[in-house]
Amino acid sequence: MSIRIAPPLLLIFLLMIHSDCTYTYPTGYQIMKVFWTNGWGVKPPDLSKDPEYSQRLQYLGDEQQNCTIRLSHVTQKDEHMYYFRFTTYTPDNKWLGHPGVTLTVTVYDSSTRYNSVRREDAGRYSCALHEHTYISPAVHLNVMYPPKESFVAVNPSGEIVEGDSVTLSCSSDSNPPAEISWFKRGKFVGSGRIYSISKISSDHSGEYKCKSINKRGEKYSDAVTLNVMYHPKSVSVFINGSPEIVEGDSVTLICSSDSNPPAEISWFKEGTFVGSGRIYSISNISSDYSGEYKCKSRNKHGEKDSDAVTLNVMCELMMVQ
Ligand SMILES: *[C@@H]1O[C@H](CO)[C@@H](O)[C@H](O)[C@H]1NC(C)=O
Ligand SMILES: *[C@@H]1O[C@H](CO)[C@@H](O)[C@H](O)[C@H]1NC(C)=O
Repeated sequence: MSIRIAPPLLLIFLLMIHSDCTYTYPTGYQIMKVFWTNGWGVKPPDLSKDPEYSQRLQYLGDEQQNCTIRLSHVTQKDEHMYYFRFTTYTPDNKWLGHPGVTLTVTVYDSSTRYNSVRREDAGRYSCALHEHTYISPAVHLNVMYPPKESFVAVNPSGEIVEGDSVTLSCSSDSNPPAEISWFKRGKFVGSGRIYSISKISSDHSGEYKCKSINKRGEKYSDAVTLNVMYHPKSVSVFINGSPEIVEGDSVTLICSSDSNPPAEISWFKEGTFVGSGRIYSISNISSDYSGEYKCKSRNKHGEKDSDAVTLNVMCELMMVQ
């Protein structure tokens, strides 16, 4: 008798693999019973009757020459020598496949891979036996990692003017996906991947960062600066010097206004342009300079006039002796 049995099996945890087994015996014998066992001795146990195996063991062969079995849900406990056995009628004989087949179970668990596993290793894995066509069902390897690059995109990307709608979106690469929170100059302002400002005002100008966090770690983005442009506001004129202006004095008018970008200033006396620049100076003033003055503040987003201020130049009384 000869039994041809597959070489030692290498199995991966929970995968089932089968491989053909055939046997031959001299003519004239009649098969009574075929079974697989994992022991020797006078009465080797029939594995299909063993509660440890009966649910997992399937005899796929026939009773003539094919002794193929399938063992599923293999664990390390199944590491054994296994033997095919059959008995025949007349003459009454018991036969055992020699040298049997060795089942080697190799268990890969996450701790074996963990230290060296990389993001790129994520994916579906199957195993196959060398020189066999059988390929196991795939298992999915899910590689967790902390947020890596984290950056903020601003829409619209160009100039932002007061009243615009602006969205900041935070992108980060992590597994599992990160939770996002937003900070303006270090102060929490909102959460979620997108931070929307529907009617932006100059108060929203400043540095923003997003923070990506998952259970493996956290990462701040680089800061992005929102620079909100707006037309001149709160335009006013200050007179530098004594309110009592006497001929021959020097008088300085200062125009103050708030705008982004900074405004260009022009000066008007009673509606007539008299000069430009933030400061308007008059030296050796005469009564011709009396009147109402305004400054106009203008940038590309708009313009605004100050309220009028009045210069009233008095004549100096000369005491002549
Ligand atoms: C033995 O039986 C198995 C399962 O039915 C089958 O896949 C295999 O082809 C058979 N082998 C031979 C040599 O007949
Ligand atoms: C100031 O103006 C008056 C009148 O125009 C003139 O007489 C005088 O010389 C001026 N003084 C100076 C210092 O320029």
